[in-house]
Amino acid sequence: MKKSVYLMVFLGALAGAGSVIAGPAVKSEDGKYLDKDGNPTWNKKDDGTWDWYTFSGYRRYHAECHVCHGPDGEGSTYAPALRVSLQTLTYDQFQETVVNGRTVHTAGKESVMPSFGTNKNVMCYIDDLYVYLKARADGALARARPEKREAKVDAIKQYEDACMAN
Ligand code: HEC
Repeated sequence: MKKSVYLMVFLGALAGAGSVIAGPAVKSEDGKYLDKDGNPTWNKKDDGTWDWYTFSGYRRYHAECHVCHGPDGEGSTYAPALRVSLQTLTYDQFQETVVNGRTVHTAGKESVMPSFGTNKNVMCYIDDLYVYLKARADGALARARPEKREAKVDAIKQYEDACMAN
């Protein structure tokens, strides 16, 4: 009895996984892939097709963050390499830092991560940014634009419109 329940849960998880091929994603909802903790994550199919969020995050990162954090999350003399930070930073810590910012004083020098909490061009795409940087941190995405990608589904467009109008 117990065994068959486990088997059904396992088969159910497999069926739900759908197009997930490799990487941390265990399921997808409306074009967004989620890991076992329910946090957004990247997905790359066998044929090299990336999820929409990784692609979108690549673009947003290079519009809002690269000036300080360097191209491709590689870091600069001013700000840390987020490709490295996201190897240990959790989704919640990432969000907290981007929303609130952080100012650190060391040896008379000031290091400022601005607060983006009221910047819609960042806040409406915070999952995109996280997913892209996670793909870089996991070593899944090279220093390049993810060319081949899934379509932007209606649910993503609707979320974006609602968020930007807010
Ligand atoms: C004006 C420059 C600047 C911009 C623009 C900027 N950051 Fe930062 N960021 C920093 C600095 C400097 C730090 C390090 C702060 C410190 O010393 O702790 C930092 C730290 C962070 C951290 C914490 C890293 C860690 O290892 O703890 C995250 C996450 C982060 N930034 C994300 C972003 C994202 C995402 C964007 C784009 C939306 C962005 N930053 C844009 C300057 C910037």
